[in-house]
Amino acid sequence: MTQPKRIAVTGAAGQICYSLLFRIANGDVYGKDTPVALQLLDLPQAQKAVKGVVMELEDCAFPLLQDVVITDDPKAAFRDIDAGFFVGSRPRTQGMERRDLLNANAEIFRVQGEALNEGAKRDAKVIVVGNPANTNAMILAANAKDFPTENITAMLRLDHNRALTQFAQKAGVSVDAIAKFVVWGNHSPTMFADWTNATADGKPLAEVIGDEAWYKETLIPTVAKRGTAIIEARGASSAASAANAAIDHMRDWIKGSDGDWVSMGVSSDGSYGIPEGLMAGVPVVCEGGAYKRVTGLEIGPFQRQMLDRTVAELSEEREAVSALL
Ligand code: NAD
Ligand code: LMR
Repeated sequence: MTQPKRIAVTGAAGQICYSLLFRIANGDVYGKDTPVALQLLDLPQAQKAVKGVVMELEDCAFPLLQDVVITDDPKAAFRDIDAGFFVGSRPRTQGMERRDLLNANAEIFRVQGEALNEGAKRDAKVIVVGNPANTNAMILAANAKDFPTENITAMLRLDHNRALTQFAQKAGVSVDAIAKFVVWGNHSPTMFADWTNATADGKPLAEVIGDEAWYKETLIPTVAKRGTAIIEARGASSAASAANAAIDHMRDWIKGSDGDWVSMGVSSDGSYGIPEGLMAGVPVVCEGGAYKRVTGLEIGPFQRQMLDRTVAELSEEREAVSALL
């Protein structure tokens, strides 16, 4: 049998992982013909709970799951990995703004960046889910000095998927009819859900929907505040949908996005007026195990204004954690 793909997952005792681990073990990332091994990291006080989750993984009898490591040591968790899901961090609770998490979580990603640098395969693919995801990913990359920065990404896919459903419902089409849609910038309420180039069954989405006021006054704020709406409704932050988005992000990166755009937070190359090095959501196409930025798009005045706002927030976050970069 082929060697298993070794996959580190942090925050393994948490609510996102309670969905994510089972999807990975089921073959939803690498496919049904690729065995996997899980390397699970959580804090010392969460080790007992992780063991309980692993008992449940065993009880699923997943044919592809070959090995599971449980640890509280980041170096052991990231040794020889092919992929890493960085989920572990403190989640936002009711009344907390996302940016309040910045300092609480920054130190975690400094330590984990050094451990990633030490042990991971140089072609390992990394997604940061733990909030504030973009800035955490930037801290991780800055502290993994010999690890390729382009292999560290932040999750914007949940925002992308959230918008797809809102558009599909409004347009009366299925979600997979919609193409060339992107969420730019920060995974925060400043994110910009941009339908400028989007199509529904090949026709311009803006024409199919024919309601620009709805787009600006309802769609954009609904998607931007969806995380808060879920916290208010559930009393806890999104979990199964976040796990699903992380799976979509990694599967597309590994297997390809069939020519369509997906939204990924990647280290900026300076294009579209996004300062170099900021981890910002941009449109990419995935093919052959790599993502390529969509280049040469014209940016109109409304897009510019929305992009500048989310980029300004990312720059402020970078400033706030500059000591760790
Ligand atoms: P949770 O509190 O249920 O679980 C977090 C887990 O991380 C806990 O088991 C905790 O012990 C562990 N942890 C904390 N510090 C750690 C460390 N240093 N190393 C390893 N593990 C550590 O939280 P959750 O609901 O699973 O959410 C996890 C993160 O994902 C939060 O930051 C949340 O805000 C974020 N999130 C991001 C998105 C996104 O779209 N990017 C969506 C939803 C949630
Ligand atoms: C989400 O978008 O659901 C998460 O990032 C949780 C949050 O704090 O908004």
